[in-house]
Amino acid sequence: MSRKLLVTGGAGFIGSNFVHHWCKTYPDDRVVVLDALTYAGNRGNLASLEGKENFRFVRGDICDRTLVDKLLQTENIDIIAHFAAESHVDRSILGPGAFVQTNVVGTFTLLEAFRQHWQTNNQPLNYRFLHVSTDEVYGSLAPNDPAFCETTPYAPNSPYSASKAGSDHLVRAYYHTYGLPAIITNCSNNYGSYQFPEKLIPLMCINILMGKPLPIYGDGKNVRDWLYVNDHCSAIEVVIQRGTPGETYNIGGNNEVENINLVQMLCQLMDELALDLPVRPSQNLITFVKDRLGHDRRYAINSNKLQTQLGWTPSVTVEEGLRLTVEWYLTHRDWWEPLLSEEYQAYYRKNYLQSAS
Ligand code: NAD
Ligand code: TYD
Repeated sequence: MSRKLLVTGGAGFIGSNFVHHWCKTYPDDRVVVLDALTYAGNRGNLASLEGKENFRFVRGDICDRTLVDKLLQTENIDIIAHFAAESHVDRSILGPGAFVQTNVVGTFTLLEAFRQHWQTNNQPLNYRFLHVSTDEVYGSLAPNDPAFCETTPYAPNSPYSASKAGSDHLVRAYYHTYGLPAIITNCSNNYGSYQFPEKLIPLMCINILMGKPLPIYGDGKNVRDWLYVNDHCSAIEVVIQRGTPGETYNIGGNNEVENINLVQMLCQLMDELALDLPVRPSQNLITFVKDRLGHDRRYAINSNKLQTQLGWTPSVTVEEGLRLTVEWYLTHRDWWEPLLSEEYQAYYRKNYLQSAS
């Protein structure tokens, strides 16, 4: 039987990759995207789906209860895949208010609307609320600590991760209190196509192409556990299909890399793949800048539960994924150039002026 999905934040980085993945894998399912098109949302990411019978785009805010109620009812939604969020740590340091509003109040609004919808329809067994969250809720690891697992206590350190932690707690409470069939996934750092230029990997690729400094916070030895976005999408698919309501699943690719090493890998790939570079070798652009406030030292995720219980495995190594990503940014200048808007330049100046050492 075909399913009806409401995908919030489906015009953002991971959301749009997920929508493409789902529509390709399950063409008979109906996918409704609800996205406010903030600076990070781009309807063009979904251009190839516009006009298709089983696809609909709605511009709107997840905090708008009337709109969410109407969509759940008229579209007869049975699955919410909830990606919509304010997602950038540096922006959460500059202005945390929007993070509380969208990530906490927005998730609460969706939960309340979905609870009413699920109860009104006599609690169908196939309904799911899939909440997409982050490994950052677990806080920061010391070099030899074991990787985060699903029972690691929450210890968020940034306004971003605190707002995501708040939303996770609400989702958990809706399962325990009302029995709402909700599942949480906590994933490590993603990279791949359609990622907004403010995040580390696209920022470095674009700055290399423009001959601009490559700002590395602190000593560059912070560690992130990188996952190719397509592998995140396949993990969410598996969790929607086979995950148990009330459970949490960690998602990660076992790819811990220090920031400085990652940027050096990107420089080498760019030197190899890009024809005209203003500065070559591009690692001459590397510039150490003042550290991010409250900068978490290390993230690492243990995804054994997802792998052993639900049979998911990542498909690409970080070397393969980075090459695919660099190739994508090299061939999609028309996608990222318009995003370097005046608003983006203002954000960039504000963030990196503060971090100039
Ligand atoms: P993104 O910033 O690229 O996209 C967010 C999308 O949500 C945008 O399209 C934006 O327009 C939309 N949005 C924002 N506020 C909204 C609102 N109030 N109502 C409706 N839509 C709104 O983010 P992303 O990197 O694709 O992340 C998606 C989800 O995955 C987030 O929940 C994030 O916390 C989580 N996550 C991200 C990563 C990562 O590395 N990017 C890792 C783990 C988890
Ligand atoms: P980011 O992509 O912002 O993801 P997150 O903060 O959610 O992990 O940053 C990844 C890592 O790269 C993080 O340790 C901060 C660092 N970083 C820099 O050193 N310079 C930069 O300009 C940016 C954006 C990030």
